[in-house]
Amino acid sequence: MRRLVHEGIRELVPYPPGKPIEELERELGIHGSIKLASNENPLGPSPEAVKAIKNSISSLNRYPDGSAYYMKEALSKKYGISPEEIIVGNGSDELLELIIRTFFVYGDHAVQSFPTFLVYEKIIMGAGGDVSSVPLSNFGLDLERMLDAVTSKTRVIFINNPNNPTGSVLFKDELLDFLHQVPDDIIVVLDEAYIEFVRDDRVANGLELITQHPLLIVLRTFSKLYGLAGLRIGYGFASREVVDYMNRIRQPFNVNSLAQAAAVAALTDSAFVSRTIELTNSGLEYLFRELDNIGIEYHPTQTNFFLIKVPGGGDSMYNKMLKHGVIVRSMSPYGLLDYIRINVGLPEENERFIETFRKVLDK
Ligand SMILES: Cc1ncc(COP(=O)(O)O)c(C=O)c1O
Repeated sequence: MRRLVHEGIRELVPYPPGKPIEELERELGIHGSIKLASNENPLGPSPEAVKAIKNSISSLNRYPDGSAYYMKEALSKKYGISPEEIIVGNGSDELLELIIRTFFVYGDHAVQSFPTFLVYEKIIMGAGGDVSSVPLSNFGLDLERMLDAVTSKTRVIFINNPNNPTGSVLFKDELLDFLHQVPDDIIVVLDEAYIEFVRDDRVANGLELITQHPLLIVLRTFSKLYGLAGLRIGYGFASREVVDYMNRIRQPFNVNSLAQAAAVAALTDSAFVSRTIELTNSGLEYLFRELDNIGIEYHPTQTNFFLIKVPGGGDSMYNKMLKHGVIVRSMSPYGLLDYIRINVGLPEENERFIETFRKVLDK
């Protein structure tokens, strides 16, 4: 069996499948637990998206529109990018994989920062590639060292802005300077899964940078701001040529019809977007104030999640909070052993987190 898979796959550790909340509750004998572990939107899905899904259900006997025509039209109108420069995927996760399948061959090399979104390394290893992981500098991406890591075999560089799990951001001028130094034959993936949460207008925005490197691919998602993580829908902006090559190997019906209808409607749901942003900002303010009161170190963020340094380590804190029905993310898989990551929840969930955290810390 072992010889059927290449070394990259043999070395991979399977993504730890989290148990469903209901199952965890049954095992622990608790109920009413809250989850602040996956950077999801605590308000639920966009109501406009839900309406659109209900209206589309009766057409489930039909295959979805393989060209995602209406979705690309809607994105094109909103962002001023032509439909030929847009690609739609079953979550931005699928687009990451599609990029690698299109432009990467066995033995190629990629550069990422570390810690960052864990999927990048997984897909490179899965494709039999090599990855250089450049340590963050003061919790932010070290673009200079990432450039230094480029070799003659480098095909892809992953930039996550804001960076998951640290919440750090890159400014426009530094990313522009970086893009101008990346050789023209290397793909730059700019993953902007959380860009809509950013408050600082000095932060780089892929839409403004798209013409600055011929192989720049900007990825975005409906999973976070629009609350549609369970539907699986994301999109990317890139040159016509890049999109054309990716479309050649894309599964023809990669994005289901409910997801497409929901995404088009969600883009019009400005009331939900505003509520999400307000809830995030007021939640961050509350959580930071309370953590200051407790005297616990945390990392400033431009997103809907942030890191907290915890005594006794992230794994132990995860287990202790879990026993009280508060699900957080231990940062040990990201090499940050002393940290947990939480996302902003509903006001009552934030309060429950602080209350439980105090109890566990005995403060
Ligand atoms: C940085 C980053 N990129 C991409 C994704 C994947 O998003 P999607 O749900 O669109 O696959 C996530 C999800 O957590 C993420 O944190």
